[in-house]
Amino acid sequence: MRLRSMVSLQKVLIFTTLACLPLAAFYRSSSGEERKIDSLFLELDKKYRIPEAWTVLPFELEDPWKRVKNGPPLTNIINKAKVEWLSRWIANPKKVVPNAKMPNLGLDFEEIKAVIVFLSSISDKQLPQVTWDSFLLKKEDELSSDEYDKMDKIYNNGKGAWGRARCTICHPIKGVGGNVGVGPDLGEITTKINRNWLYDWLGNTKSHFPNTMMAQYRFNDADLRGLVEFVMRDTQFIPEEKDEEEGVKGKSAEQEVNVLTEKEFDNLRKDTAAIEKGRDVVERARCFVCHDVKGISELMPVVEKKRDGLAGFEKLVYEIRCLTCHRIQEKGGSYAPNLTIAGSKIKMTWEKQFLQAPDIIRPLSQQMPKFNLTDDEAKVAVDYIEKNLIVKEGLPKPLEEGSITAEMIAGGEKLFFEKGCNTCHAEGPKGGGVVGPNLQTVGDRLQTGYLFYHLKNPQRANPQGVEPNFGLSDDELKVLVAFLVDHVTRKEGK
Ligand code: HEC
Ligand code: HEC
Ligand code: HEC
Ligand code: HEC
Repeated sequence: MRLRSMVSLQKVLIFTTLACLPLAAFYRSSSGEERKIDSLFLELDKKYRIPEAWTVLPFELEDPWKRVKNGPPLTNIINKAKVEWLSRWIANPKKVVPNAKMPNLGLDFEEIKAVIVFLSSISDKQLPQVTWDSFLLKKEDELSSDEYDKMDKIYNNGKGAWGRARCTICHPIKGVGGNVGVGPDLGEITTKINRNWLYDWLGNTKSHFPNTMMAQYRFNDADLRGLVEFVMRDTQFIPEEKDEEEGVKGKSAEQEVNVLTEKEFDNLRKDTAAIEKGRDVVERARCFVCHDVKGISELMPVVEKKRDGLAGFEKLVYEIRCLTCHRIQEKGGSYAPNLTIAGSKIKMTWEKQFLQAPDIIRPLSQQMPKFNLTDDEAKVAVDYIEKNLIVKEGLPKPLEEGSITAEMIAGGEKLFFEKGCNTCHAEGPKGGGVVGPNLQTVGDRLQTGYLFYHLKNPQRANPQGVEPNFGLSDDELKVLVAFLVDHVTRKEGK
């Protein structure tokens, strides 16, 4: 309480000081004094308002990394997580999920039980029930061989969808993967969730958690069912069995951890005293600082963003959460290529195909997931990128594609190998390095102007890039670009 009011007092002070500044300037000028603004300030001001090299975007991009509450809403948690899991989680999050961010709040078992009962009492939605073939609800060893085959087919379909979707780009599994740096470890997810919740989550993540950083894939019903079968059955999502020795140790350790059973929960769930106690603990433990909890009043409530009217690229970029991985201007993550000038870099015919069915450009890093964008969605994205994500003044293009001669291409090829570009790049079926993108069809993918821009100084487009600056002359640049522009699909396999 005290800390907070001090902070807000400070804010008021800063605010009034700021608010008075222009007033002071006005005051001086109205009393006859000349009003002078430092030209340096004007320059800076211009720079910060409209970055020189960037265009002003038609809408303000939302940065998924800057959400105020990092924890999911807790209002309907009872539809998602098993009570046993909840009791272990609240007692010590990091012991349950290796990459948990939630702190251990030091609650005792009585408090934890009350919190769970309270949270179950505020649930305001029923989980839609999916109809499953009854054999899918059986354990593996209870399936007849006919049923097993049918299940296995669905499972394998899901395994394929899982691979194309590159879920592990965000989610580690038992500590491995998750390079984007968001998303809980899914290594023991079967101890937490149920089929119906998973189906509903994968079909519409944002209805559960409007600010989620997870991409909303365009899965069809068969993909969803496959993914559910795969996640609920594959051993990578089930806790590892402890070996003999560890098992004994594990058991004695486990006995000390109290776990709320379904049965005990059923006896407690209507207990109004427990519900009241739970509400009290949630208020005291400040769960609402990181979570939305229905009915808990807050000192500084977060105003939920209005997203009902979203359309076009703004809708797509919110649903897919492109900015969890990519960066545009100063918003977003740094895992995937920066898209700020993608419209000056990439050829849009290639781009549209890529968005619908990404292939591998950079062999060493991970591939972009297949989100199953529709043709219309890909077109919306490409139109936006072409128009807005560009170098404002345009890139010079010292070479017309029509003016390229066989002689230039041969000169460029010689230079390419002389300079050792092939140590990092493959440029055809012969192979080559894998540090940089494969250049076999770079002429389809990149605009001529961008090739000059990049080769003139590779660090300009990507300050962290490892490609050396070869200090190439304009003539060398020309033949090298001519050679690269010639790398197009129709030459494949040549
Ligand atoms: C762009 C990153 C990203 C991708 C790709 C992604 N997820 Fe997620 N996922 C998240 C994040 C982040 C959360 C947690 C909610 C939050 O913090 O926004 C999450 C939550 C989940 C959860 C709930 C886990 C829990 O313990 O609450 C499941 C299950 C899940 N994702 C499955 C998948 C599957 C299956 C795929 C692939 C089809 C996938 N995710 C792809 C980021 C991602
Ligand atoms: C400092 C922030 C913070 C506080 C305080 C906090 N949590 Fe969390 N909680 C998180 C984060 C972040 C997650 C998401 C999982 C992760 O990465 O840790 C989470 C996840 C959860 C989950 C799982 C949600 C889901 O959808 O899977 C539950 C349940 C939960 N918290 C309960 C509580 C309760 C109850 C309290 C108060 C007693 C509380 N939390 C206080 C940060 C917090
Ligand atoms: C889960 C992370 C992730 C999300 C979400 C994501 N991408 Fe990507 N994207 C990547 C990765 C990784 C690459 C690099 C692929 C490669 O090099 O093989 C990439 C490559 C690209 C490229 C090619 C860039 C270049 O310079 O080569 C474009 C364009 C692109 N993505 C656009 C988008 C758009 C638009 C969205 C949202 C609709 C989106 N991406 C969502 C991970 C992601
Ligand atoms: C030390 C390794 C290395 C060498 C040598 C190297 N490159 Fe690269 N190059 C890279 C990397 C890594 C990237 C990817 C930068 C990125 O992802 O933003 C790259 C990017 C590129 C691109 C742009 C591709 C894209 O999609 O952004 C082109 C074109 C290119 N290099 C051409 C060349 C040429 C021509 C040479 C020789 C004159 C060369 N490179 C030498 C590592 C290298």
